[in-house]
Amino acid sequence: MIKVQDVSFTYKDETHPALEGINLEVPEGGFLGIIGPAGAGKTTLARAVAGIIPHHYTGDFYGSITVNGLDTVDSSLIDLSRLVGIVFQDVESQIISPMVEDELLYGLENFGVPREEIPERMEDALRRVGIPELRDRSISSLSGGQRQKVAIASVIALKPRVLVMDEPTGELDPRSSRQVFSLLKSLNEDLGITVIVIEQKIMLLCEFARQLAVMNEGKIVRAGHTREVLVHAEELEALGVNCPRVTTLSRLLAVKTGLELPPCVDLDTAERMVRGLMI
Ligand SMILES: Nc1ncnc2c1ncn2[C@@H]1O[C@H](COP(=O)(O)OP(=O)(O)OP(=O)(O)O)[C@@H](O)[C@H]1O
Ligand SMILES: [Mg+2]
Repeated sequence: MIKVQDVSFTYKDETHPALEGINLEVPEGGFLGIIGPAGAGKTTLARAVAGIIPHHYTGDFYGSITVNGLDTVDSSLIDLSRLVGIVFQDVESQIISPMVEDELLYGLENFGVPREEIPERMEDALRRVGIPELRDRSISSLSGGQRQKVAIASVIALKPRVLVMDEPTGELDPRSSRQVFSLLKSLNEDLGITVIVIEQKIMLLCEFARQLAVMNEGKIVRAGHTREVLVHAEELEALGVNCPRVTTLSRLLAVKTGLELPPCVDLDTAERMVRGLMI
């Protein structure tokens, strides 16, 4: 369980808080999506959950965050990193080795994973992300999307209980983006890993995330089950957050017909709704 209580944070030498009065709970095994316009504080919240704030990025931190009972301020970054894996928005800053294999090896060795377990952990992580053939490649020969997948694989290899992904599909085409979300779904459902993902591709996010938090100007302006949040589609659009097109469609249909139609998140439900209206 992740519990964020009354968290405010101002980066060192800044005057304006990047987070203000954040309260949020994610149950163990939950799948939370975070959306919001640029500069809303999404990355800052991700850093705080992983403990990088306030351990690495210093500043004024108020409130408390606990991850599976570990307080992010009181615990060391080493202990936290065993629990929470994070894939940064800026993948380039995450990758430190010149070769793919070394990148995965680095984390596994640092975590003290026994030598005999390492090859299997590497293979498993690369296979899950769908890039087993890249194992012997140099990072410099990879595309942006491939690098993003390497960063994801190296975090997954460490088997965190909580996975924080900051715009993991930014460099990926639609097919690879869906692959990443399917991977997150299987990690979440099969291994019970708690997933927090910041994502601009709203349709994809709403299809997979069970919980949504909408951020604006350092605050959470809406949070709850995905469908409950999407009921407020107009409010989200006013913030510049696009809603899935099927959600907009169902909202317009509700307005036009005067019927109480629930917001749709996926195509199947939208199809059923439209068919129902045509009878
Ligand atoms: N390292 C930093 N030092 C100082 N201020 C920062 C730092 N990182 C972010 N900020 C500021 O904190 C606020 C929130 O930024 P943050 O990166 O968390 O937003 P975001 O929602 O992730 O935006 P984006 O969608 O562009 O990734 C912004 O005003 C930003 O300028
Ligand atoms: Mg960001």
